[in-house]
Amino acid sequence: MGAEEHAILCGDVEATAACAAAFARQLEPGQIIFLEGPLGAGKTTFVRAMARALGADDRDVVSPTYAMVQEVPLAPGVLVHLDLYRLEHPEDAFALGLEALPEGAIVAIEWPERGGSSLGAPDWRVQIRPVGEARQIVIEPVSG
Ligand SMILES: Nc1ncnc2c1ncn2[C@@H]1O[C@H](COP(=O)(O)OP(=O)(O)OP(=O)(O)O)[C@@H](O)[C@H]1O
Ligand SMILES: [Mg+2]
Repeated sequence: MGAEEHAILCGDVEATAACAAAFARQLEPGQIIFLEGPLGAGKTTFVRAMARALGADDRDVVSPTYAMVQEVPLAPGVLVHLDLYRLEHPEDAFALGLEALPEGAIVAIEWPERGGSSLGAPDWRVQIRPVGEARQIVIEPVSG
């Protein structure tokens, strides 16, 4: 049984957003999510919909490519959104302050592979694969 068995096919942005919202509502405080997929796959789109489902103003969620880290206030709590695409050295991930996150923060990380082993393991992996206009989304909990 391959990962495809668990994939959700989202035909448009609204379907991807609905998938992200359902995922977000079952998260627990402090959980870390890795978002994987190529440029333009829909990682930021997914995080924006998560934030909206968790009570944020989704205009607060922009692509953090240049800042790398963005704190989105939720009602209540906070979503920390990272995009490590421009991280030049994996060890620079330490400089982002990930060891001093706000209590209970949910952390969504785009391009986690750029952070290397300095990031540790996530609680969830979300993989987004473009299939024409659709997106095949695989969400899996990471054990351990
Ligand atoms: N089914 C779909 N689900 C999500 N996004 C879609 C879908 N179909 C088209 N799109 C479009 O794909 C683009 C996804 O952009 P987004 O910024 O979310 O990607 P990204 O994975 O964050 O890219 P990057 O690696 O550059 O950060 C948007 O323009 C969105 O409108
Ligand atoms: Mg993005």
